[in-house]
Amino acid sequence: EKGGWDSFMDKEIHEEPAAVQRTLIGRLDDEGRLNLDEVHIDEHDFKTVDKIIVIGCGTASYAGMVAKYAIEHWVRIPVEVELAHEFRYRDPILTPRTLVVAISQSGETMDTLMALRHAREQGSKVLAICNTQGASIPRESDAVLYTHAGPEVAVASTKAFVAQITAAYVLGLYLAQLKGTVFRDEIAQTLDSLKDMPRKIQWVLDTQPSKVSAAARQLRDANSFLFLGRHVGYPVALEGALKLKEIAYTFTEGFAAGELKHGPIALVDEGEPVVFIVPPARGRNVLHAKVISGIEEVKARGATIIAVAEEGDADVERYADVVFWRPECPTLMSPLVDVVPLQLLAMDMAKQKGYDVDKPRNLAKSVTVE
Ligand code: M6R
Repeated sequence: EKGGWDSFMDKEIHEEPAAVQRTLIGRLDDEGRLNLDEVHIDEHDFKTVDKIIVIGCGTASYAGMVAKYAIEHWVRIPVEVELAHEFRYRDPILTPRTLVVAISQSGETMDTLMALRHAREQGSKVLAICNTQGASIPRESDAVLYTHAGPEVAVASTKAFVAQITAAYVLGLYLAQLKGTVFRDEIAQTLDSLKDMPRKIQWVLDTQPSKVSAAARQLRDANSFLFLGRHVGYPVALEGALKLKEIAYTFTEGFAAGELKHGPIALVDEGEPVVFIVPPARGRNVLHAKVISGIEEVKARGATIIAVAEEGDADVERYADVVFWRPECPTLMSPLVDVVPLQLLAMDMAKQKGYDVDKPRNLAKSVTVE
């Protein structure tokens, strides 16, 4: 069943290129129409959507946070992301023009299901992004976009995350073309970049694992890790931190890199491992310079710097103790590759500590109680 891999997690990480590719197949036709799996929302409803609220838990919520950056940029409507279990208890503002996007790998997460029921009761439409055919969440939604990642067995979600981002991006591009907020050729170009991502993920899987294993050996006894990123690198940092908590049982904290000086830098001491997700330096990206200055700050306090950065980034090479490279890609696409070495790092650390990476203690694959 594991197809020659020694864990499902290993197998599923290596299926990520295929997961992205399969999620994209047949989605947007030449006319720019989106092919949803089940739709009871008509084009007019999509066209008049004036707010999106993404709900999900854990990894699914981080996929939602990534999607927020892309969808707001393309569609120019506000996108909120909320943990499903917080959502319905705060009396959220929902109207028939609000599109609620429920993201769930299993489709059975009770917190997410209850939140979507609440949204529908308030008259909003719900679109599910789900990996499990016929599960409760897609069954109770107004429209469904299935991620075709294939069954995910390991408790730690990996291939579902990249597939969820892909599906949410397709939705964003569809809304952008419907509302006319992005030029046609730019949509086509973005779609091409998306279609190119499986190849780039494969490059990471082909070239980075031995470096990741060496880092895991070096760092496995650390008591805690910090993960930092900005923009789309911020949810990637949160996801990297979650993976390490879940399966290596290491205390981690993920936060937006800009917060460092507002408190967390006090945690940084000699030898503290700090993981930075570094945005591309190209195009005089101001965020690149800011993340580098964050690296300098923690380096000066003796931290061990682990970076995920674009191949050949000289600033990163200068400061980082360990670098996992990403091939060149647009910033919005970078989460699809940047998460991969972080998943591998958590898996390798857990294995080296002798833990069962597929079935971490205290956790279930699908959380069917509120
Ligand atoms: O099945 P779902 O996507 O709804 O599950 C949501 C979370 O429980 C899930 O992502 C959890 O955080 C994972 N174990 C993370 O690896």
